[in-house]
Amino acid sequence: MSIKTANPSHIKDAAEIIISGGLVAMPTETVYGLAANALDGKAVAKIFAAKGRPQINPLIIHVYNTAQAERYVEMDERSRRFADHFWPGPLTLILDKKADCPISDLVSAGLPTIGVRCPAHLVAQDLLMVCDVPLAAPSANASGTLSPTAPMHVAQSLGDKVDLILAGGASEVGLESTIIDARGDVPIILRPGSITPDDIEAAFGVKPEIGFGNPDAPTSPGQLLKHYAPNADLRLNAVDLADDEALLAFGSLKFMGLKSGGFVKDLPAERILNLSESGDLYEAASKLFAHLRQLDEGGFKRIAVMNIPDSGLGIAINDRLTRAARK
Ligand code: TXA
Ligand code: MG
Repeated sequence: MSIKTANPSHIKDAAEIIISGGLVAMPTETVYGLAANALDGKAVAKIFAAKGRPQINPLIIHVYNTAQAERYVEMDERSRRFADHFWPGPLTLILDKKADCPISDLVSAGLPTIGVRCPAHLVAQDLLMVCDVPLAAPSANASGTLSPTAPMHVAQSLGDKVDLILAGGASEVGLESTIIDARGDVPIILRPGSITPDDIEAAFGVKPEIGFGNPDAPTSPGQLLKHYAPNADLRLNAVDLADDEALLAFGSLKFMGLKSGGFVKDLPAERILNLSESGDLYEAASKLFAHLRQLDEGGFKRIAVMNIPDSGLGIAINDRLTRAARK
């Protein structure tokens, strides 16, 4: 495994690895992806092996524009409007596969649909252009663990299982893309992300259906699986801190108390990481996975998490936290 800065020469190296059937970790604006040529079944199989991912869990493909997407999936006026409005960007559309679609069946795990996304990160776009093949890419982490938002996270999670890591800075959004089933009259959100239900309603005047958050009625295979799991146990909506807990804070710590008396603000700094002192949800999303990793690495067995408002981008943050807390 090697980590290289994503300059044009290294992007060319990465494209050669992809075309010869290897795996490249690429930066995207959401999280780092583990990419392979989606047309090459053997290469796609390597993704499942490297992540230890169950083969029932389909992958999404990445394309550089809508025209490329239309070679593989059926797009109607509605789905084109989604693509025009939100691509390139953190939105994955679930669409019907074309009858003659050459994408490996492993990608869609036998489903008649495929998730497609056009990433906004310039390195991902360049890599897609130079390769000129659709890239299957799940998050570049071992299955079930936290998604990587920096090149080092990929190296730590996958090591030599990836041929090359293209380093392109910290992921700006920090949460995986919003997934929408865009085939019906009413769009269904299968995974919340930084494009919120309100953003979708504002763009199209239709209130999307919420298809996530109910483990008893999964709408996407990924919802069935243990996910985003740090090693530590999480306690959500904490209003005070126990002696054996580290704190994942959000907002001001001025009045946060210790169960045993005293104030959190007087504790040693390494026991507390703040997602956003000013209570900014965008900052919190971008730091969520990195902070959880850091507290895990600090050896804390229990992490208390302060309340995060459940609106706008907070919906996606709370989705990840709720799933990370589930054992
Ligand atoms: O932001 C992202 O989407 C990142 C970056 C790398 O693009 N990718 C990502 O991929 O998060 P992954 O594989 O970690 O998550 C994709 C999710 C899975 O939960 C999977 O079950 C769901 O998408 N999915 C994929 N294809 C699907 C389909 N045809 N129908 C329903 N759900 C699907
Ligand atoms: Mg993932």
